[in-house]
Amino acid sequence: MNLFDVYPINDVTIVKAKGSYVWDDKGEQYLDLYGGHAVISIGHTHPHWVKRIEEQLEKIAFYSNSIKIPLQQELAMKLGKISGKEDYQLFLCNSGAEANENALKMASFHNGRKKIVAFSKSFHGRTSLAVAATDNKNYIAPVNETDNVIFLPLNDEKALEECFTKNGKQISSVIIEGIQGVGGINVAEVSFLKKIRTLCDEYGAVYIADSVQCGYGRTGKFFSHDFAGVNADIYTMAKGMGNGFPVAGLIIAPHIKPKHFQLGTTFGGNHLACVAALAVLEVLEEEKLMGNATLVGKYLRDELEAVPELKNVRGRGLMIGFDVPEELKDLKKNLLWNQKIFTGEAKPNVIRLLPSLALKKRDAEQFIESIKEEIALLQETAS
Ligand SMILES: Cc1ncc(COP(=O)(O)O)c(C=O)c1O
Repeated sequence: MNLFDVYPINDVTIVKAKGSYVWDDKGEQYLDLYGGHAVISIGHTHPHWVKRIEEQLEKIAFYSNSIKIPLQQELAMKLGKISGKEDYQLFLCNSGAEANENALKMASFHNGRKKIVAFSKSFHGRTSLAVAATDNKNYIAPVNETDNVIFLPLNDEKALEECFTKNGKQISSVIIEGIQGVGGINVAEVSFLKKIRTLCDEYGAVYIADSVQCGYGRTGKFFSHDFAGVNADIYTMAKGMGNGFPVAGLIIAPHIKPKHFQLGTTFGGNHLACVAALAVLEVLEEEKLMGNATLVGKYLRDELEAVPELKNVRGRGLMIGFDVPEELKDLKKNLLWNQKIFTGEAKPNVIRLLPSLALKKRDAEQFIESIKEEIALLQETAS
């Protein structure tokens, strides 16, 4: 049997990983500034995370949600404390798309409405509602097409106001990434997030903060939406939550009440997933990784801004993007093959940095040296 070929892949087989480094099957070492798509939050195979999972594996790995699983409550308490949303309610699931799907459904159950406001260049996942709220026609199958999603330009307060004036009483939810990831590292402005809060309050709509990629401490705050100083009604999370163990969730504000069977899951919140997520929060706190994300992120941004060839350096903490001019289009590829550094990309010409939040300053320095070297080499070959 062949694999269903859905992605172009790099010709490399990773067999080992530690901290911010990975090794291929030939023993070659790579610096990982991509984190398997923003998933590695506390560093590859962190010893505390490995120990927590191993110990749990010896006891019980899974039982369904038909019994008490105290680890879920433990996780909810810890998450509430670290995120500062102690009065929210946690629902656990398995992936970012699933978290958003459940958030959009929950909003609609709550206010009985159908319309969703989403933004240009958004990515919310590939399940039916999540993909319908994703601004990329290539991902939307005919069966996912719906008139219920209204797309507006990101950070356009006037367009948002007009949309609410026209459709206000039909709008169930507004879903927005604090920083768009797949869309190319586009930061939602503070005043725009505040405006969403105000309009959702005025019209009874639910503000959903998609924190799947930009959340879990990556920007230096637990949720990047927190930079706006207002609360969302629902936050969705996934990627960094398990440091590679598949676990996701949504936290729901206290005014949205649960009703039996509206949401549900077989695998969500299993014992192993809970300890993986707990281990991540424990390390995040113990090693002060959000502070590290702020510091090392600032260093990277300052240094990248000083490289004249790289344009529009943007982002927060360790979620950074910059534009690469056409004549340097091989830069990402050359960083991988010549310098052995993994980075991420966004079409058409953006390099995305999504490393572990434990990235060391000396690794960031190595990256800056390497990128300068590769830019010079590309310029030399062009001239
Ligand atoms: C902002 C955002 N939301 C949702 C998703 C979907 O997450 P998953 O691939 O875990 O379903 C992603 C994945 O890249 C994402 O970046």
